[in-house]
Amino acid sequence: MSTTLFKLQQDHLAHLQRAYSDILIAQGIDSLAIYSGHANAHFADDQTPTFQAYGHFLHWVGLANVQHSWLVIQPGQRPQLYLYSPADFWHLPTSLPEEPWVAELDIHLCNDKITPPLIGRAAVIGDVKHLETNTQQSIHAEYQPSELIHALDELRLFKTPYEVACLREANRLTIAGHQAAQAAFVGASGELDIQLAYLGASRQRESDVPYQNIIGLNSHAGVLHYQHYDLHTPKQRHSLLVDAGRRFRGYCADITRTHAGPDAPSIFGELITAMHGLKDVLIEHIAPGVEFVALHEQMHQRLGEILIAHDLFKGSVEEAVNEGVTRAFCPHGLGHSLGLQVHDVAGLRHSDGTPAPAPELHPALRLTRTLRTGMVVTIEPGLYFIPMLLAPLRNTSLPVNWELVDALTPCGGIRIEDNVLVTESGYDNLTPAQ
Ligand code: GLY
Ligand code: MN
Ligand code: MN
Repeated sequence: MSTTLFKLQQDHLAHLQRAYSDILIAQGIDSLAIYSGHANAHFADDQTPTFQAYGHFLHWVGLANVQHSWLVIQPGQRPQLYLYSPADFWHLPTSLPEEPWVAELDIHLCNDKITPPLIGRAAVIGDVKHLETNTQQSIHAEYQPSELIHALDELRLFKTPYEVACLREANRLTIAGHQAAQAAFVGASGELDIQLAYLGASRQRESDVPYQNIIGLNSHAGVLHYQHYDLHTPKQRHSLLVDAGRRFRGYCADITRTHAGPDAPSIFGELITAMHGLKDVLIEHIAPGVEFVALHEQMHQRLGEILIAHDLFKGSVEEAVNEGVTRAFCPHGLGHSLGLQVHDVAGLRHSDGTPAPAPELHPALRLTRTLRTGMVVTIEPGLYFIPMLLAPLRNTSLPVNWELVDALTPCGGIRIEDNVLVTESGYDNLTPAQ
């Protein structure tokens, strides 16, 4: 890692130390314990599912796999990291990298699972419900105080230069995976082989991905969170949608690309080009002060224009938007906050922690905030041919070109997704052009 990134990380930790002190003092909390969490075995088994440490723990210690560990923060004191690292000949004990940031914390390597030492009015945050009963009983603290969680979530919404550097690097590695996935598709691979090509080129094992990669061929591209990988290549190859990311030091990339196959009607490729253009235009509108809900509504307006320009809808943009046509073609939100979680925290709250729910017409929107410098968001317009959502429109007189819809349905759909930083002067697209 470069000296610059080390320096940025030290600045990031100093920023956290100041911000946590201010928050804890303002809320009258003397000590805070943040639990990393741990994986729980499947019922009646000794095997555990994939684990990912708690976001607020990762904010300080970007090691996504650390378990049974605690961070104790007190205003004005050095952070104390209690890292569970038992002598174990079955597993490689957890150790910390030899990197300068480690010197910013007091590290305690623990052979046993500990109870965090807390003083005064204390709070505990993290997934503690599966701690051993005696550990739980010996912690005298307020659990998950909502005012504190809201303040810490709000802090996560605004990325430091270190976090931006990590997100940029996560994007760079992710694009390498997308390029390999596209090449595998051109080479007529099936979903599983495309997934393996993606993992290899983005240099990660499947258990480390920030979310389950969506690798959908043909109509699977229209299943928004398609969760399987078919072993075999289908006879007809209409389309490929890849929504896949990677972590770098805990920070997630979340990128989607869609490709036309040799058996797709030519209009499908034209629609992909149009959706790239839509993604770019929406990104150009990103700036501090912009309402994300308004940008989402703008996506629907422009999607209406695309439907009309490509003869999928023979009415007006107003009709397409007001009658719910664009919502049937794109049922998800324009994007969400991105960081230590792929759908990062604080997207549906005002800065004071009060709820800022999604609009009634757009219940899947995960971000309702006014954009501010330092936020990182995804911009992911979509256009899908999902029979379940389009069926109700068929019973209306709305001028949808059903013949064309039917011709495109085997292609599933299109989503194009980039990751964008809001800057003082506008935006910085963290996703390299591909
Ligand atoms: N990969 C999930 C999403 O784009 O939100
Ligand atoms: Mn996304
Ligand atoms: Mn995505």
